[in-house]
Amino acid sequence: MLNRSIDEIIDNALFTEGNLVRLLSINDSGGMEYLCQKAYEIKTKYVGKTVYLRGLIELSNICRKNCYYCGIRKDNHAVNRYIMTKDEIIEAARLSWQLGYGSIVLQAGEVVSDTYADFIADVVKSIKQIANGGVGITLSLGEQTKEVYKLWRKAGAHRYLLRIETSDPEFYKCLHPDDHSFDIRLACLNDLKEAGYIVGTGVMIGLPDQTLERLARDILFFRRIDADMIGMGPYIPHPATPLAVKTNGFADSRDERLNLSLRMIAVVRAVLKDVNIVSTTALQSINTTGCEVGLLAGANIIMPNVTDFKYKKDYILYENKPCIGEDAVLSKDRLEPRVRSIGEQIGYYKTGDPPHFIRRNG
Ligand code: 5AD
Ligand code: SF4
Repeated sequence: MLNRSIDEIIDNALFTEGNLVRLLSINDSGGMEYLCQKAYEIKTKYVGKTVYLRGLIELSNICRKNCYYCGIRKDNHAVNRYIMTKDEIIEAARLSWQLGYGSIVLQAGEVVSDTYADFIADVVKSIKQIANGGVGITLSLGEQTKEVYKLWRKAGAHRYLLRIETSDPEFYKCLHPDDHSFDIRLACLNDLKEAGYIVGTGVMIGLPDQTLERLARDILFFRRIDADMIGMGPYIPHPATPLAVKTNGFADSRDERLNLSLRMIAVVRAVLKDVNIVSTTALQSINTTGCEVGLLAGANIIMPNVTDFKYKKDYILYENKPCIGEDAVLSKDRLEPRVRSIGEQIGYYKTGDPPHFIRRNG
């Protein structure tokens, strides 16, 4: 594809499904570089060159779901299940703040019960007391009722991540058992918005049977639901999952998945402009410079893992998860030079809310 054609689509916002597919199918290095550069300019214009950090706390790997791709799915009996205590979670949040991370993400498998809802609300309230409410709190705790979302919002959480995984209901069925519902997932995203959260969603990239058309429609879906944050990363098979046996030629190699993930980041930046986009752990795990190249393709958020090693080793969604053997401090020491090396800076102690949300509520 000619650079001129890339300019024409992006500068004139000609974001039809067909044009998005054209951008996503660029596979020569010159074209890729041009697309990423263009996305980088848009990022610089709309969200700046500051990278915001979220300390990721994987508070439990207990999950009631059985997603075909995920290593901690309920039926994987080889997993050693845990839930951190309140004190351990608070301690991790405190460490994260001491490292200068302005926000934390509390992530876990999906658990639905009144006791759990109250436990999380209590934890959130206590974390809010660290640094006089200075720590931004993002939750990533799956599908819950509207009441529970409101309870947690009231407790002090202000962002929520719930990936749609794919915006195509038929394809959703290929990735999940029959009792997992696409419509409920969609309704949850709507409930989160109504409850006043800054809402993030996203998809995996390079799934078997995924097509560029499906990915293009995912991007249009993000725009349609007016998402504030996007988290997308390459799909990485986990051997103990049903989906791991499937390969069918769609972005099967690591290189292809890396490049396609970068193009997705770039195109999402070009279309959505002022949202937060994560340079994900999964990206880093398929390439040692994944984190930086994600930033250079248009991402502006990094989520360093601050979970204690004793738990982190049991939170394995996919193979080769990076930093499993590193403690949080070491991860930070490695991060800063990486961000500096590409001429960006870290927004220490800043929550880094997406300008999109501020505009949406302006
Ligand atoms: N490869 C990449 N990402 C995965 N996730 C789950 N399993 C995998 C995998 N095998 C992602 C899903 C989920 C998020 C918490 O992790 O998108 O929403
Ligand atoms: Fe559970 Fe999330 Fe894994 Fe699905 S992707 S099995 S909901 S932890």
